[in-house]
Amino acid sequence: MANIVIVGTQWGDEGKGKIVDLLSEHADIVVRFQGGNNAGHTMVVNGQQFISHLVPSGILQKKICAIGNGVVVDPEILIEEMTYLSEKGIDVGAELIKISDKAHLIMPYHKAIDIARENRKGDRKIGTTGRGIGPCYEDKASRRGIRFVELMDQALFEEMLAENLEEKNFYLTKFLGGEALSRAEIRDRYLGYAERLAPHITHLSAFLGAAIANNRPILFEGAQGTHLDIDHGTYPFVTSSNTVSANACSGSGIGPKNIDGVIGVVKAYTTRVGHGPFPCELLDETGECIQKKGAEFGATTGRKRRCGWLDTVLLTNAIRLNSLTGLAITKLDVLGELDSICICTGYDYRGRQLKDFPSSLKVLSECSPILETLPGWKSDISGARALSELPVQALAYIHRIETLTGVPVQIVSVGPGRDQTIVIDHPFAGKPS
Ligand code: GDP
Ligand code: IMO
Ligand code: MG
Repeated sequence: MANIVIVGTQWGDEGKGKIVDLLSEHADIVVRFQGGNNAGHTMVVNGQQFISHLVPSGILQKKICAIGNGVVVDPEILIEEMTYLSEKGIDVGAELIKISDKAHLIMPYHKAIDIARENRKGDRKIGTTGRGIGPCYEDKASRRGIRFVELMDQALFEEMLAENLEEKNFYLTKFLGGEALSRAEIRDRYLGYAERLAPHITHLSAFLGAAIANNRPILFEGAQGTHLDIDHGTYPFVTSSNTVSANACSGSGIGPKNIDGVIGVVKAYTTRVGHGPFPCELLDETGECIQKKGAEFGATTGRKRRCGWLDTVLLTNAIRLNSLTGLAITKLDVLGELDSICICTGYDYRGRQLKDFPSSLKVLSECSPILETLPGWKSDISGARALSELPVQALAYIHRIETLTGVPVQIVSVGPGRDQTIVIDHPFAGKPS
């Protein structure tokens, strides 16, 4: 059986949760490999909506759900999420939820620093989710982070907490003008989390290695999107992890030879939450219409998402960065009210067409999109379950995306529900076993 990676191609919220939930049926294990509870992945099954922030979106399909070493984990949120799922009758026992012992912990000072820094920045803020993601990855990179494996050793944890907190409290109070945090309070809370989560802590690389040796299919669930990647995104308006497919390996503890396919989730238009340049943004009635029809509000922070046309410069960049083997187009139904629909086929920068997505934000913010206009289909397609049930204009839109990108569209989503999907070529079909 195959191992497949799912990533977002734009700036997040492409509908990864829905696609992962759908494809999980054919996987044994679903793994998150980066990010944290900045993610908000929505699944709708039998009319019931679930939003997961940390637990992989395979949980509704009763698959083993693993949180990789590349994820930063807020244990309070994880426990809340597990409680919420179990109250809905979903099994979240230690057999199904595994946490890498090498995953780093988001601590209360990470959240406090994230929020206080953003407040200080005023107009120059990134627009983070305020979940402590950046400060936690900073500590990981500067080698003073606390991982689950350290949390499980009480004496070591207390020592590391004391050392970290001395510095963080100095920074929080003297530089950011905030309040100092209590060591005893953090210690007691986190030791409680340690006890609660202990049965789930796993040597995940070894666990996945054994699964691969036994040909058990694995689905890797990306969070955020390619253009929020710390290296390849619109830096500094990005998140603090590598969101591209290569990190499915380092963020979970397997090698690249074990990946058989990479599916890029593409919203049929583009959205972005938070700050940063967005060449195809629509600041007019059409943008508002898409925002309303698509219910484009952040699943994590509830913020309105900025909306714009589909951008194939962005997509082409994502195809190269992730080695995409197929596309899953989502939210095609949202465009059903428009008379005509535009696709961005290039960027105009000071009178010349750019070949590649620019690295400089200054250049990107001066780019204007070169648009191609296609006729709309002016109908409700949310009931379509096969390509043959789509209007010709919708088919032409899909085919145009394939032509412009050179990558096959394998899935088309026409509504939030698991069943509102047209599977053209199943990503798990025909892969090596
Ligand atoms: P993710 O972060 O990539 O998992 O995406 P989000 O869950 O943050 O945002 C996607 C939103 O679109 C959610 O509310 C989904 O329920 C919804 N959604 C997903 N696919 C479709 C679709 O094909 N049509 C419509 N109308 N909604 C969809
Ligand atoms: P999913 O997985 C959309 C954005 C934030 C902000 C920037 C940095 O649901 O697609 P952070 O808190 O990560 O330091 O914020 O990244 N961001 C997302 N935008 N979807 C997400 O996740 C996001 N996770 C982070 O809005 O601009
Ligand atoms: Mg989301």
